[in-house]
Amino acid sequence: RAEVVINGSSSPAVVDRSNESIKHNIQPASAKWRHNQTLSLRIRKQILKFLDAEKDISVLKGTLKPGDIIHYIFDRDSTMNVSQNLYDLLPRTSPLKNKHFRTCAIVGNSGVLLNSGCGQEIDTHSFVIRCNLAPVQEYARDVGLKTDLVTMNPSVIQRAFEDLVNATWREKLLQRLHSLNGSILWIPAFMARGGKERVEWVNELILKHRVNVRTAYPSLRLLHAVRGYWLTNKVHIKRPTTGLLMYTLATRFCNQIYLYGFWPFPLDQNQNPVKYHYYDSLKYGYTSQASPHTMPLEFKALKSLHEQGALKLTVGQCD
Ligand code: CTP
Repeated sequence: RAEVVINGSSSPAVVDRSNESIKHNIQPASAKWRHNQTLSLRIRKQILKFLDAEKDISVLKGTLKPGDIIHYIFDRDSTMNVSQNLYDLLPRTSPLKNKHFRTCAIVGNSGVLLNSGCGQEIDTHSFVIRCNLAPVQEYARDVGLKTDLVTMNPSVIQRAFEDLVNATWREKLLQRLHSLNGSILWIPAFMARGGKERVEWVNELILKHRVNVRTAYPSLRLLHAVRGYWLTNKVHIKRPTTGLLMYTLATRFCNQIYLYGFWPFPLDQNQNPVKYHYYDSLKYGYTSQASPHTMPLEFKALKSLHEQGALKLTVGQCD
């Protein structure tokens, strides 16, 4: 059986640092794009050989107990103890157990969403995934409001909530968490040692204020498994971004997958400037050697999957 060709060639992909957005013209255009069901199913099957989103989306209560020691995935020499709060917030069963959705939206955080008018379209999908607690209320016209799952890297607490230095910032975070209103909050707590306190603060806030969210903490093997899948398909990523992780997980429970806000380039297809994030002033950093991400390379892979009908990328305006 034919292999899924993801990077468009049989030779190992190289990191594309050119940032020339003109090279990334998305074809077929929105109206002509057709979903390829056979290919989507084949990709789901292949990914299942590496991970199972239903299981790997979160560590479950039955598998850990308070006081257990965990080695961080990227800092193997550093450890953390499973706190009582973390244990209390572990789900008993997978939040994705037996879940299947006709269409899913994964919303990345690129500034390409600004003035896209995609909000309404995004909100029509059966399941909407967002990244890193990105704000929605003030940008609803372009990004929508519906949120079924949102990720939160611990660094977000520092970047967007001033490390909760005072009551005002704590209140801001609390309001954002309350607004999630029953959706899944996905916290990669076991990746890097830097996030230890931040994860604890958030856990404490959720418990203390009885915030209505369903917390999930990805399994210890998820990251390597996702990387393994892409490497096997000759996509030579260093560390998968949140966006790519979400796509890889979504293949398990989504029939059709629509991506918005994935555009890791400073210029759009018409050569107009694009902000790195739609909501803040963070600058492009992924080209530095130190950055663990290879976003343009990931984008190339996603573009190839768009061309083959396995997913749909929207990088301009919605109709
Ligand atoms: N993204 C993109 N183009 C951008 C910004 C983000 O394609 N200009 C996608 C990436 O897949 C990214 C996701 O949107 O993972 C969410 O963005 P962000 O919150 O910025 O994630 P990062 O913090 O950059 O990366 P990570 O959380 O994976 O470390």
